[in-house]
Amino acid sequence: MPTTPISRLSSEEIESLHNTLQNLLYLNNVCRESLCLVPPVHSSLHAATQDDEIPVSYPVHLSDGTISEQKSISVSKGSFVHVPVEAFNLDKGMWGPNAWDFDPDRWDHLSEDVLSLPGLYSNLLTFSAGPRSCIGMRFSMIKMKTFLYILLMTFSFAETDKRI
Ligand code: HEM
Repeated sequence: MPTTPISRLSSEEIESLHNTLQNLLYLNNVCRESLCLVPPVHSSLHAATQDDEIPVSYPVHLSDGTISEQKSISVSKGSFVHVPVEAFNLDKGMWGPNAWDFDPDRWDHLSEDVLSLPGLYSNLLTFSAGPRSCIGMRFSMIKMKTFLYILLMTFSFAETDKRI
């Protein structure tokens, strides 16, 4: 933990702090778990620029109540596609029965199915995926880790029954 205020750190001290943060594996797991359970961008909307087929892993329940056996969904040019980030990150079929629990240890034993999921960050859709994914991901991560690290090194935290 640097003794000088963070705004006055030398570039060597910044690099050292950065290296310290990168090596804190449990802090990394806590950040991943938080961004998995509570993705700040919970969904997004995209417009198809051309006709396309979106492959699916499971049979799709159609709005008329029937189940489609097709292996893909046809999307025509101009259609809006809702990308449900929360549903993707919290799917029990993919992440297991404890998908909705806060469990930072899950990141130490991910299934092959989860490891095959696309996503800019940690097989999640939190920062989207592909060519239009978030350009601020690394900045956000280092900021989140630095913030937590300084709070945890400076204060003691305890549960309370008091209303805050
Ligand atoms: C925890 C913090 C953040 C989260 C969860 C987040 C998430 C996302 C997501 C999901 C998208 C895709 C949106 C979509 O497809 O409609 C996106 C795009 C983008 N983000 Fe972030 N973001 C975060 C922080 C930042 C920061 C700090 C910056 C800038 C410094 C930033 C800059 C951008 C930009 C410019 C795009 C558009 C990229 C493009 O369309 O090519 N984001 N972000």
